Amino acid sequence: MKIHLVSGGCGFVGRNMVKRLLKTTNDCVFMIDDLSIGRHPSEWIDDYNSIMNNDIEVIGKEKRLFFWKGDFRNLLFFMRENPRYIQDKYSIDFEKFSDVFHFAAIVGGRMKIEGDPMIVALDLSIDAEFFYWVTQHKPDRVLYPSSSAAYPVSLQSTEGAIALSEGDIDFNKNLGTPDMTYGWSKLTGEFLAQIAAAHYGVRVACIRPFSGYGEDQEQSYPVPAIAARAARREDPFEVWGSGKQGRDFVHIDDVLDFIFMLLDNVRDGSAYNIGSGRLTSFLELIEVFGDIAGYKPTVKPLLDKPVGVHSRYANMDIVFEKFGWKPKISLREGMERVYQKQLELISK
Ligand SMILES: NC(=O)c1ccc[n+]([C@@H]2O[C@H](COP(=O)([O-])OP(=O)(O)OC[C@H]3O[C@@H](n4cnc5c(N)ncnc54)[C@H](O)[C@@H]3O)[C@@H](O)[C@H]2O)c1
Repeated sequence: MKIHLVSGGCGFVGRNMVKRLLKTTNDCVFMIDDLSIGRHPSEWIDDYNSIMNNDIEVIGKEKRLFFWKGDFRNLLFFMRENPRYIQDKYSIDFEKFSDVFHFAAIVGGRMKIEGDPMIVALDLSIDAEFFYWVTQHKPDRVLYPSSSAAYPVSLQSTEGAIALSEGDIDFNKNLGTPDMTYGWSKLTGEFLAQIAAAHYGVRVACIRPFSGYGEDQEQSYPVPAIAARAARREDPFEVWGSGKQGRDFVHIDDVLDFIFMLLDNVRDGSAYNIGSGRLTSFLELIEVFGDIAGYKPTVKPLLDKPVGVHSRYANMDIVFEKFGWKPKISLREGMERVYQKQLELISK
């Protein structure tokens, strides 16, 4: 039997990954989440039903999904004390995990990153425990999600923003300053991934997602928040900051496709961009949503809100040259999907 581990499995990326694994494989999935942000699986697994095995939920008719609710660090600590903790306690018969996807992290939107940077710094402790366990357990393959926030903020300013390329982070040269504690933890995570590969022979790949979005993302993120405003036909239309700041939006389905492509091809802990390669300002995004909703609102800037760096977007050349890969979902198509979802929520 193959079993994969997904930490942070009830969060935005995690639940999309869990659903994809259940749909495209016959494998089992061991999911961990403390539900600090994540949603209980009863909210997002179709035909949800479960039985208890000790303190974990075993979900679905086929009993392929296991849910351990709690702080991932506690489970990592139990497994440090007894490497066969899961096998012994829950009588699950497996030698080691196949693919390990580590999405447990304190993330949040701009409000959290700037408003409570020390809680975000706890990601350092989650990742340190995680990589220690990985080097002991040696799963078949590991995916570590870094972030575009790991790039030097100096390359993302009003005057000098460039399309960020993988080589703009180089652990053998002077590193720039990443974005707040969030960016530091991601940069450190990437470094640990490389150490795990080089010193312990762990097969690991890292992604640097830009602004991932999707239909079921939390409202604290800009895309669903803006889509909801358009669905309510707000006018004036509020935007954080001047709206001239820009990001590179990439749909979660493309992010997942890319993850599997990388797991098949990368083993040394190196990190690759996942974005569209296109900078879209929030003003442009509002225009797209206005167009989808069929109206032209007046924009009202909220200058007291945190906005982060001015322009953050990916150079996707290396990914294309190396893997021949490009995202499939256009900005318009992805935003229409999010808009439709927000309309549904409003009409409920
Ligand atoms: N969504 C994006 O666009 C994006 C971009 C760059 C990087 N990432 C990275 O991908 C990962 C997942 O992001 P997301 O958008 O799904 O965030 P999210 O907040 O939706 O998911 C994180 C999940 O981890 C859980 N969690 C937090 N601390 C935990 C702990 N100590 N133990 C167990 N569970 C814990 C939360 O309850 C939540 O469900 C993060 O590492 C994030 O930095 C995401």
